[in-house]
Amino acid sequence: MAAPVAERKPLPTGTAGGGALRLGVAGLGTVGCGLLAILQRNADLIAARAGRPLQVTAVSVRQRRKKRPLDPGPVRWHANPVDLARDPEVDVVVELIGGASGPARDLCLAALKAGKPVVTANKAMLAEHGGLLARQAASSGTVLAYEAAVAGAIPVIKTLREGLAGNRVHRLYGILNGTCNYILTTMEQTGRDFADVLAEAQRLGYAEADPSFDVDGIDAAHKLAILASLAFGSIIDFRKVHVEGISRVSAADIAMASELGYRIKLLGLAQMEQGGLVQRVHPCLVPLDTPIAHVDGVYNAVVTESCAAGRILLEGRGAGAEPTASAVAADLIDIAAGRFAPVFGVPGRHLARLRPGSMRDHVGCYYVRLQVHDQPGVIADISAILKRNGISIESLLQHGRAVDDERGVPVVMTTHEAREASMDKALGAIARLASVLDRPHAIRIEKLNEAEEG
Ligand SMILES: NC(=O)c1ccc[n+]([C@@H]2O[C@H](COP(=O)([O-])OP(=O)(O)OC[C@H]3O[C@@H](n4cnc5c(N)ncnc54)[C@H](OP(=O)(O)O)[C@@H]3O)[C@@H](O)[C@H]2O)c1
Repeated sequence: MAAPVAERKPLPTGTAGGGALRLGVAGLGTVGCGLLAILQRNADLIAARAGRPLQVTAVSVRQRRKKRPLDPGPVRWHANPVDLARDPEVDVVVELIGGASGPARDLCLAALKAGKPVVTANKAMLAEHGGLLARQAASSGTVLAYEAAVAGAIPVIKTLREGLAGNRVHRLYGILNGTCNYILTTMEQTGRDFADVLAEAQRLGYAEADPSFDVDGIDAAHKLAILASLAFGSIIDFRKVHVEGISRVSAADIAMASELGYRIKLLGLAQMEQGGLVQRVHPCLVPLDTPIAHVDGVYNAVVTESCAAGRILLEGRGAGAEPTASAVAADLIDIAAGRFAPVFGVPGRHLARLRPGSMRDHVGCYYVRLQVHDQPGVIADISAILKRNGISIESLLQHGRAVDDERGVPVVMTTHEAREASMDKALGAIARLASVLDRPHAIRIEKLNEAEEG
């Protein structure tokens, strides 16, 4: 049942600092310290744009004595972040702790229940509990803002929720994880393999010690679920995102893709297909002549295709202290200035429960890499299986002859459009051929330019 929508409470005027909006910041790590830096450096400009100063009056961290790049000044320190929600000298709670549940969620719920606006960068929490938090914000008549949760500095939430409010979005896709984009870009530039580049990314601090959240596509899926909800007016449904990571992408795939006129990117895509909302995150071959193919390194990009505005590409820094804090600051200025929008663009009762589309029904083109014995008839056998499943080959690449037939030779093909269920069936049959040495590796091809005209 939809929660009753309360009247929105008047925004607090604050008591300290002559009408300042008083902030309670939970978490002074990468983003928290980035926020302090921006609030201190741009205090005058922010006060002018917000109509009043923003003042940090309270903070919460795990270890108060830890050395930090910035001193928050004379603030109240709370050992328990939930106390920020109860602090009478905090008007707005900024949650920069992280984690889908635990203290971050407890704090946000407590603040919203107390009628205090919440600003967060926490995509995991929103993807898992966004519906619950949005209902609480609506029933308390307050704000839940999260520009920083998707694509760091890129103002994609505002673009979808406000800038494109008059449009029906057909499709949305993007590079939503900087770590994966850095790894894929470096693999392409150096010809090195995934494990090697990942180890280097960890040494350089671009990848976590436990990289699975990033390289398995989970982080991108969290962000995609948030964007899909906004774009399609649907109840957020992270569990229905189809997710594949980049660990099976090899240097050979990247080189072959390049020869065929493509680059490999980890994309998140959301689109209505046959009446269902398909949300998917997986490596894709994207044509070299699309702008997104040239978004490199740790950069993120989001493309929206909508009925009136057409295609829009937003590109920028998707993470890092100040790029992420820039988005937090923008939300805070909106709150201080009294600008307000429903959490997912429309009041919660108008959000639809869209049927999830099935990947088995997805229709697209495929790149397939096979390792086969170098002997006559192999290609004919593979072609026959594809034909039986209604799949036609668009191009085929085989370089050289095998020096050592134990290891075989790589064969790469691209297909014309096929249904995913047919492709799976064909790949299963191909894998069982005696002449095929390894499990076939398929990567979806996204012909992004063609779709807009359709
Ligand atoms: N880093 C980025 O580039 C980036 C980009 C986009 C979104 N985000 C999101 O922003 C959020 C923060 O990320 P981050 O990278 O800034 O994290 P971080 O550097 O690990 O900082 C986390 C902060 O939370 C504090 N903290 C942890 N548990 C706490 C608890 N129980 N009570 C009070 N404080 C607690 C930590 O305290 P101590 O300092 O005392 O340990 C630390 O200051 C996450 O949701 C993340 O997904 C980050």
